[in-house]
Amino acid sequence: MMTEQIERAVADFRALLTEQIARTGEMEKAPPPKDYQSMPHIRIGMVDGDGIGPIIMREARRVLALLLAPHIASGRVELVDIEGLTIENRLATGKAIPDDTLAAIRSCDVLLKGPTTTPKGGSMESANVAMRRALDLYANVRPVTVPSEGIDWTFFRENTEGEYVLGSRGIEINGRLAMDFKVTTVAGTRRIARAAFEYAKNNGKTSVAIVTKANIMKKTDGSFSAICHEVAKDYPGITAEDWYIDIMTANLVNEKIRSRFEVFLLPNLYGDIITDEAAQIQGGVGTAGSANMGDQYAMFEAIHGSAPRMIEEGIGEYANPESILRAAVMLLSHIGLSAEADRLAGALTTCSEREKRVVVTGDRDGATCREYADYLMETLTK
Ligand code: IPM
Ligand code: MG
Repeated sequence: MMTEQIERAVADFRALLTEQIARTGEMEKAPPPKDYQSMPHIRIGMVDGDGIGPIIMREARRVLALLLAPHIASGRVELVDIEGLTIENRLATGKAIPDDTLAAIRSCDVLLKGPTTTPKGGSMESANVAMRRALDLYANVRPVTVPSEGIDWTFFRENTEGEYVLGSRGIEINGRLAMDFKVTTVAGTRRIARAAFEYAKNNGKTSVAIVTKANIMKKTDGSFSAICHEVAKDYPGITAEDWYIDIMTANLVNEKIRSRFEVFLLPNLYGDIITDEAAQIQGGVGTAGSANMGDQYAMFEAIHGSAPRMIEEGIGEYANPESILRAAVMLLSHIGLSAEADRLAGALTTCSEREKRVVVTGDRDGATCREYADYLMETLTK
């Protein structure tokens, strides 16, 4: 019985290995990145998601329709509603992203996406993870700033491999053990490292912190760090520093040194964890946006989850739309609409940091999502 299970696990493992090797081959022959500036028509897909997703996306849609009105009228930009990325539909079809929804997603160039619910355990994969993989969105870019403290961090989290790529395909020997896999590929690490160093170079940053646990995860993190250093050689003005994830989580709450960090480059899971910590330092996970970038598509989303508890407690309308709107700022600048991106970013700063006339707390004592959006739209048209 046990031997049989082991044999089956070995066969599964062989298949995983073969598949992952094939994936590295695909990455190596990827076509050149899309040039949004030269595109006459850009389709922005709007995906609601679950829980508070439809509520914050409803407001994001109003804000974008106002901000982009001239571009929508001229046909340069189109806002496309994409239905069906709901937990009910995913459970009914047994697919992390139902086929027709994925086809609609692929027909767009960039996406603004509300949070989706992922069931714990079982084998249903997170819609987020599936989308990052399906569209090859390999760079998860998460900026965090606290101007009053001199904090200006940009996280480059590897987004398609590491602990996530086979996260729903681990091996279990019933009653005895469970095993998951972490995958680091040369091509996958090289492209995220390139993205981080290019960003540093283009934005006048002088250091990149490579954050791993290479003392323990010797093969995967060891190779991640080595490849990042290899890429760093092409950027002579930029220092590449190695840090371990445990001490880096401490550094972020160390007020004496934290403002000296600029760009962070990390494998998937560490990036997931530390960016929540960083967002909290900025004012909460509701305040940060997140960009998932690939060469052909890019998806922008709130850093937080779908908050099912808020829906259960009947306070969904009090959700904070700031994070999704910060994501919209990144979307606009990604497609080259930097004037609109700056206008929205400026209005968000006025509403959330400077004037704070309407404050969303995530509960009944605060303003609703709609009230905040009204205030923002009023600020935008002033
Ligand atoms: C994030 C989220 C996702 C992740 C979840 C929703 C799958 O926490 O974007 O950080 O773990 O990547
Ligand atoms: Mg996360």
